[in-house]
Amino acid sequence: MAGILSTQNVKAGYNDVIIIHDVSLEVACGEIVAILGPNGSGKSTFIKCILGFAKLFDGNVLYDGNIITGITSDKAVSMGISYVPQINNVFPNLTISENLDIGAYHRSNKSEIKNSISEIFDMFPELAVKKKNLAGNLSGGERQMLAIARAIMAQPKVLLLDEPFASLSPKPIAVILSKLTSIKQNGIAIMMVEQNVREALSISDRGYVLVNGSCVMSGNSDSLFAEEFSRQKFLGLEEKKFDRNKFRVHNDS
Ligand SMILES: Nc1ncnc2c1ncn2[C@@H]1O[C@H](COP(=O)(O)OP(=O)(O)OP(=O)(O)O)[C@@H](O)[C@H]1O
Ligand SMILES: [Mg+2]
Repeated sequence: MAGILSTQNVKAGYNDVIIIHDVSLEVACGEIVAILGPNGSGKSTFIKCILGFAKLFDGNVLYDGNIITGITSDKAVSMGISYVPQINNVFPNLTISENLDIGAYHRSNKSEIKNSISEIFDMFPELAVKKKNLAGNLSGGERQMLAIARAIMAQPKVLLLDEPFASLSPKPIAVILSKLTSIKQNGIAIMMVEQNVREALSISDRGYVLVNGSCVMSGNSDSLFAEEFSRQKFLGLEEKKFDRNKFRVHNDS
């Protein structure tokens, strides 16, 4: 699979401080890639540097075969890269429908936007029944679903998600896992930062592990459950053994 989005030896950070060191990774259409690692390891910074929210000191970002290094977030959205930040990812004082409208802000064809909203409501019936509710009144899981749905309203080829399961209990996490699997099956590339390692690896195809801003390991998701991971080498898994299949909520197609 050729990557639709990739980075080559990216160095990034804030002001004059380099946080990310020489990170090269990629995600292909119809693939979920997990970016894992402990707190403060630079996962969010890495995602942010793709979109111009963090400073890119060196290296390149490629999208669909073109160098897009230094692109603004607005341009990224219009090119097909949608981003769901770790926090503040919905407008709490707007309704679900209004949040979805905002997700389509760069699109002009009203009937196509209407179709997209009805497709979104088919995929997220949980949101359809509450479409006139304010986003601020939703549960954590519903809010995360809305944030993802809003990002999809931009018709992305790539979805960048920063900790979509943060602070959620197992039930909403399972719901979101199945939604992400459907999104992947629609051919969208998903790059997902997560600290819920097991859940992230249960649906991802491959993973990368960042520690202190460097990629210390990468591989297919099954291999990342290898012995050294169960020994808490990088990821802090609590148990010695973990059956990845237990956490699957979908088929493997
Ligand atoms: N806006 C900022 N300005 C300066 N330093 C920052 C900024 N945001 C993050 N950092 C620093 O960059 C480092 C990496 O932070 P980052 O948020 O990317 O890590 P993370 O892996 O996403 O952590 P978490 O799992 O807690 O979300 C940390 O040392 C953090 O203090
Ligand atoms: Mg983070």
